[in-house]
Amino acid sequence: MAKLLSKPRPRLKRFQVREDLMRLLFAVTALAALAPGLAFAQAAGDPAAGEKVYTACRTCHQIGPTAKNAIGPIHNGLFGRKAGSVPGYQYSEANKNSGLTWDEATFREYIKDPKAKVPGTKMVYPGLKDEQKITDLIAYIKQFDANGNKTATN
Ligand code: HEC
Repeated sequence: MAKLLSKPRPRLKRFQVREDLMRLLFAVTALAALAPGLAFAQAAGDPAAGEKVYTACRTCHQIGPTAKNAIGPIHNGLFGRKAGSVPGYQYSEANKNSGLTWDEATFREYIKDPKAKVPGTKMVYPGLKDEQKITDLIAYIKQFDANGNKTATN
């Protein structure tokens, strides 16, 4: 056994190892180039599926170029804006003073249980727990800019 291990490696083998390493490196580089695309596809969700989820919000919210504040504020340009900042909408003090900015993380938490995230909110919605549905919903809402137009990038 010891004899086998101490046997010097033939030169040729070393070359092969190098070549294999190069192949491996190439594969890793190719994968790294693909990864962001994959991650995006996973994180983006399906806007069409999200539109169906949004029917639960339509009772109170509007979105799109003709959207108006209703029982709830319009959702155009939601992501990136501060909570309680839609002009002309009468928010509760709780929402207005929540200090939140609507990004994916805060929205996720909020929509799972609005009254837990913003105690005292006047949004009467029990919450959406399904992670995939939330992801799709985000993809749907994100399509609309502040004027309610669908942006080309999403
Ligand atoms: C029964 C009516 C109702 C339903 C259904 C409803 N909302 Fe609301 N929503 C409201 C009201 C009212 C407010 C204002 C809350 C406040 O001022 O406390 C609000 C506020 C919000 C806000 C904060 C907006 C801002 O500008 O700060 C978000 C985000 C939101 N709703 C998302 C949703 C989503 C997404 C759905 C569907 C899954 C939904 N809501 C369903 C009534 C509703």
